[in-house]
Amino acid sequence: MKKVAILTGGGDCPGLNPAIYGATTRALKEGHKVFGILEGWKGMIEGSFIELNRKTVEDIVGRGGTILRTSRTNPFKREGGVDAVKRTFESLSLDGLVAAGGEDTLGVASKLYDIGLPVVGVPKTMDNDLSGTDSTFGFDSAATVGMDAAMRLRDTAKSHGRALVLEVMGRHAGWVALYTGISAYADYTMLPERKWSWDEICSKVSKAHAERGYAIVVVSEGVELASGQSETDEFGHINLAKQDVGEKLAEEIGKRTGIETRSAKLGHIERGGPPTLFDRMLGIRAGIAAMEWLLSGDYGIMAALRGNEIVKVPLKDAVGSLKTVTGDWIRLLEVLE
Ligand code: F6P
Repeated sequence: MKKVAILTGGGDCPGLNPAIYGATTRALKEGHKVFGILEGWKGMIEGSFIELNRKTVEDIVGRGGTILRTSRTNPFKREGGVDAVKRTFESLSLDGLVAAGGEDTLGVASKLYDIGLPVVGVPKTMDNDLSGTDSTFGFDSAATVGMDAAMRLRDTAKSHGRALVLEVMGRHAGWVALYTGISAYADYTMLPERKWSWDEICSKVSKAHAERGYAIVVVSEGVELASGQSETDEFGHINLAKQDVGEKLAEEIGKRTGIETRSAKLGHIERGGPPTLFDRMLGIRAGIAAMEWLLSGDYGIMAALRGNEIVKVPLKDAVGSLKTVTGDWIRLLEVLE
């Protein structure tokens, strides 16, 4: 019998519970012992965990969030953090750890693997900006919420003859904004990767308003309107929610076009709620694959999606650079706007 563990780190997203379910079920099938480390790397530093059994995971697949909770803790930024992680490996006699997370969490996993710890990754992020995998769970659920919100705003914008700006999450990459904008046929979609000007945005809004009496703009929170605050977390990220890009954009569009313009911010609403079918399937499959590889002694890799296959990709490939929106996608937006 082996002793294995799983943790979830970074921002939560729908699909994490299916991944916990998949990984746990795979290990229990062969009679291994499974620990759930609480609050990501913080739990590995502090040695806080629960034991996972069939009962703990029997009904979690359809639930958002993560039953193991999460944090944005970086052991490499904490005094004695890495030694504490090693001690938890020893005290629980762990044969291996599955770490589910995005660039930050998997970055830590990759460094721990480099110093000899048996770690396998499960890629997740609603931002969909992780390299080495075609898609991450969390994204489909988040973009579906974005699409739904934009369609709702369309109804009310139409009734009042307004322009409405929807701000969606997405730290460095505009994938959520892109899919929201395309699927809800917004009049303009602003992404961190796309060049923009006030003239261009205002002319699109004015044209849409003149033609059919209302306009919809989607903006990614990662778009820089002006330089802002600089307080960062342990991974060096600023809190983008405080930038209020959507609100500022709406104010400026209103001033420049004379059209009554309002804004709505989705924020963490996009991170909660049940995972879509796609995210459930991806979470379960990635969780099972990661645990399978861990049990067979294959470490330093993550369970990536390539086409419709779950394949082994070195953790290093996931954490070198982010996957951002490409020019082809921006050209597609231009056709639609
Ligand atoms: O990285 C995922 C993400 O959801 C980003 O899109 C967003 O900027 C950030 O997390 C929000 O983080 P927090 O939950 O710490 O507010």
